[in-house]
Amino acid sequence: MHAWTLDSIGSPLVVEEVADPALRSGGVSLRMRAVQVPAYTRVLVEGGRGSIATPTVLGIGGIATVEQVADDVTTVRRGETVLCTGFLRSGRVAEPEEVLLGWTGIGGRGTTTDTTDRMRRLWRNGTFAERAVVPASTVVALPGADAYADPTKLAFLPWLSVAAGAVERSEMTAGDRVVVLGASGQMGGAAVLLALARGASRVVAVGRDAGSLDRLEALDPRVRAVRSVSTRGDDAAAIGAAVDGEADVVIDALGPTPTPGLTMAGFDSVRADGTMVLLGGVRQTLPIPYGELMRRRITLRGSWMCSEETAFRVWRQVQAGVIDLRSLGVVTVDIDEPAAALAQAERTRGLSIVVLTP
Ligand SMILES: NC(=O)c1ccc[n+]([C@@H]2O[C@H](COP(=O)([O-])OP(=O)(O)OC[C@H]3O[C@@H](n4cnc5c(N)ncnc54)[C@H](OP(=O)(O)O)[C@@H]3O)[C@@H](O)[C@H]2O)c1
Repeated sequence: MHAWTLDSIGSPLVVEEVADPALRSGGVSLRMRAVQVPAYTRVLVEGGRGSIATPTVLGIGGIATVEQVADDVTTVRRGETVLCTGFLRSGRVAEPEEVLLGWTGIGGRGTTTDTTDRMRRLWRNGTFAERAVVPASTVVALPGADAYADPTKLAFLPWLSVAAGAVERSEMTAGDRVVVLGASGQMGGAAVLLALARGASRVVAVGRDAGSLDRLEALDPRVRAVRSVSTRGDDAAAIGAAVDGEADVVIDALGPTPTPGLTMAGFDSVRADGTMVLLGGVRQTLPIPYGELMRRRITLRGSWMCSEETAFRVWRQVQAGVIDLRSLGVVTVDIDEPAAALAQAERTRGLSIVVLTP
């Protein structure tokens, strides 16, 4: 089969002819159909987003058809359309450990252990490939997906599911005023769609890229865009004006920023008893005053990946049209030219995605 392989961090991502991965106990053999290539994949390949277990077939997420299941697998069936999460848990209740397969990311404190090393050594088939063999716990059956009119759009389900994990953790309810930081990104765009689907009365979409923000504002009259100027005070004032007061929920889906200013502008916008959820890739220390967090009784939560149940709920909402994907733009790339695909992905933002159809 053809696959995008990464020999080591910093080496180029290349297309290679490799042996089909062999099915083994606990595993599912998949024919990949549509896999989102995240905007930051080139940066990740160059080492800008942490360690990856290499050499590897790269790639996380995607939609696939099940070709075979191991004898001990009961979660999915041959011929079904499934979502790949790439999110593998150790299953040990006492000290749970989590890793992402074919990608960067270790849960908890982010440090490798003998267990995380073993998990990433055993399962080394990412989804930027014609076929993948993955643990059964990392796939979710999507009944009815075969009949979905625009299958390449389903490649956005993993991103939507991760954003849904954050929205669920915010305990947002219908009527809430929601602020999404980094809304011009793909994760932030997903969070905007979810907040609209959940009945937000207003969604303030904060970002820099004017084109993406315009597109979000065109989605629904409840969306107000704020173009960040990256000064905490000015951004907080602009967010406050767009919310028309204070926010019930703030979701931070920013990529790596040079300062914590925009995240803190979000913090400044949360109402008393409100919630802020950190979902993005910011690697800054936040200067949060103890007294403010305490007196405003703010709930500050982290959100990393999501449960299979959350992913399934997202599928049901997409299937029913509650999450509206009509505005999602898809650029498909084939497997022959990884460098061009990564460059295209980097240029593609907001509610536009690049999808590999291997
Ligand atoms: N928690 C989880 O489970 C999870 C899972 C997957 C990914 N993530 C994280 O989610 C983050 C966002 O993903 P994505 O695909 O949406 O990334 P992205 O396309 O790179 O978008 C990042 C967003 O951050 C904004 N941004 C980047 N640098 C900025 C800066 N210096 N100042 C102000 N805004 C800045 C971008 O604004 P413009 O585009 O307008 O410039 C865009 O809105 C990633 O960094 C990733 O690490 C988290």
